[in-house]
Amino acid sequence: MTRRLGVNVDHVATLRQARRARYPDPLAAALIAERAGAAQITVHIRGDRRHIQDHDLRRLRESVQTLLNIEAACTEEMANILLEARPHRVTLVAERAGEVTTEGGLDVAGNAAEVAAFARRLGAAGIHVALFIDPDDAQVDASRVAGVDMVELNTARWAETGDAAELVRLAAATRRARALGLAVAAGHGLTLQNLAPLCAAAPEIEEYNIGHALIADAVFLGLDVSVRRYLELLA
Ligand code: PXP
Repeated sequence: MTRRLGVNVDHVATLRQARRARYPDPLAAALIAERAGAAQITVHIRGDRRHIQDHDLRRLRESVQTLLNIEAACTEEMANILLEARPHRVTLVAERAGEVTTEGGLDVAGNAAEVAAFARRLGAAGIHVALFIDPDDAQVDASRVAGVDMVELNTARWAETGDAAELVRLAAATRRARALGLAVAAGHGLTLQNLAPLCAAAPEIEEYNIGHALIADAVFLGLDVSVRRYLELLA
């Protein structure tokens, strides 16, 4: 199976926002990533706008040649933004004010009706919806019930601990999701070091969304080379 790489360009915007400057431009990064072979560009528009801004979404939507995947929380503000931006995909995530980064998956099992209604609203506008969840049976099953056809498994615990038990959890959740007919993506904290073991443990994962480490590697390697390194591991 060909595994797709989604490049998350949020941290290019983080650098720009550190100076409230006009550069570096996440759109320029997206175009380089696409040229290097990325199958998708991923951005997270956060309630506090700490990196990606509303105008970035408009420019990305106009110029991304592959697929644009916007990560966002299930809020009314985001619903309006997403319905206007109309990306190819929205990945619904949990967001807590003040968190340094996304801290956990969306609690689909605990908010089933709300998540299903939100996903239906976006789906009715022709937007493909995925749910970012922790690799737990209850969350996988609830995602199926919510009516989506794709989940993104949160790999943060694997990335933070390197614990073999976390790989087992991810592999089991992947198999369960596939058995329910769900496509499976993965992301959060993935690096050149921890990606290959995950691919080996859960070969059915078809898409990886990677940002922080890939952009950090790009500081030293250049973005084109960094994207190609990740693609080599996925090949
Ligand atoms: N997938 C999701 C749903 C995310 O929220 C993030 C972080 O924005 C990523 C993937 C990328 O994670 P990282 O920046 O740690 O590679």
